[in-house]
Amino acid sequence: MTEHTRRTVLRGAAGLAAATALTGTTAAGPAAARPAAERTDRQYPFLEGAFAPVTEELTAFDLPVTGRVPRELNGRCLRNGPNVLGLEDPRLHHWMLGEGMVHGVRLRDGRAEWYRNRWVRSSQVAAKLGESYPGPVPPDDFPCNTHVIPHRGRILALQESGPLPYELDGELNTVGTYDFRGTLEGAFTAHTKYDAHAGELHAIAYYPTWDHVRHLVVDPGGRVARTTRIPVRDAPMMHDFALTEKHVVVFDTPVTFDAAAAEAGALVPYVWNREHPARVGVMPRSGGAVRWFDVDPVYYSHTLNAYDEGTSVVIDLTTYPAPFDVAGTCTDGPHAVGTGKLERWTVDLRRGHVSRRTLDDRPQEFPRVNEELVSRRHRYGYSAAAAEMSVAYLAGDGSPPDRAFSDALFKHDLARGTAQVHRLPRGAAAGEAVFVPREHAVQEDDGYTLAYVHNPDRGAADLLILAAQDFTGEPLARVHLPGRVPLGFHGSWIPDA
Ligand SMILES: [Fe+2]
Repeated sequence: MTEHTRRTVLRGAAGLAAATALTGTTAAGPAAARPAAERTDRQYPFLEGAFAPVTEELTAFDLPVTGRVPRELNGRCLRNGPNVLGLEDPRLHHWMLGEGMVHGVRLRDGRAEWYRNRWVRSSQVAAKLGESYPGPVPPDDFPCNTHVIPHRGRILALQESGPLPYELDGELNTVGTYDFRGTLEGAFTAHTKYDAHAGELHAIAYYPTWDHVRHLVVDPGGRVARTTRIPVRDAPMMHDFALTEKHVVVFDTPVTFDAAAAEAGALVPYVWNREHPARVGVMPRSGGAVRWFDVDPVYYSHTLNAYDEGTSVVIDLTTYPAPFDVAGTCTDGPHAVGTGKLERWTVDLRRGHVSRRTLDDRPQEFPRVNEELVSRRHRYGYSAAAAEMSVAYLAGDGSPPDRAFSDALFKHDLARGTAQVHRLPRGAAAGEAVFVPREHAVQEDDGYTLAYVHNPDRGAADLLILAAQDFTGEPLARVHLPGRVPLGFHGSWIPDA
């Protein structure tokens, strides 16, 4: 691989990172066939409106609140996302390649103590900000822009396909890269699964030049204790995966690395590969052989959760129709071929096949569960319908974006097959909703749903706090932030120790 390609791969993988969520056709595909004016009324949709990057790092104390912040919410609500820094040519911007910025609100004793937003200090970000970068620059260095999670008292910003995690302190300052006490070799992931029962952090890592993907288990001591190499062809993108009590589930879909696209300068050098069959792999959690099950061509972005049920494995996930093209120069950002919907896949291990069922066909993304139930049976799930995303992303078949479906948050009751909708004002631009259980909660949904939501009346973001058992009711609190939180990717509630 040439140095140019290596750099391009890194950039492309970084972009992909997040969010396979809602990416789409290429500059050489249907999107490019139409003038920009037909695609959107904005010239650079991912630099404007709800996506527009912020230009400052803010610190604000004692934030104004409408309603009351529950006194038991003591911790930090953090969210990561791309926020381009020092962009010289907007035509070369790809939303998913923006430098990671973490936004955070610190809640304590019923108060919104502070808000901060900070770029993740990779070597490139440090240089652009005129700061020094401590220590040697790691390979594939990138300001992780996809997720931010708690890990054994640390806070880690995550990126898939190359970059090491970056550790942040409690005020969102970058501490440095983190390699799990020297035990992580190579790439990590943006989407980990933490099994609270076992105290294990699981990951599936992929990298463009590998002939396999890696299942990593970080043990309760914080070390990568086991690595299992799972052979795959064509270097497929694996943005997320699923974990049950007994199994690891990987999704090998036809979005694969394309060296030619990388050499040609594609920012996101992954293409829909018609020669690459779609399949689901199920591996014992303890390691061992993977059983593969064919599925019709499809793409998935995120798993909500998964669990074992008798001799079957049940996975709830967001999927996209085929083909799902990601490659290209993407001068104006990604474009959706279709919108994400929520499905349930049941892998029957005894009969050897996968059945698929639509749970909710409304456009939505960023599915989340009560994290205490990761790998165990769940009843409820939470997701976001961000109308601004639908407006910005081009439908691959040329149809106009779905403007009828306004911004909203969903609470799915998967036992009843129903969903509640917390509707937000048009232009509210709801982000991912994170569930925080109440202390000593007995019922799965006894807790809070937190989401960063753009408040169009103020031109700034609010941190919305809902009672999850009164999902459609008036929010418990709206914490009013001093600035915008651009539409981004994933985050976590980091409870005080
Ligand atoms: Fe993601």
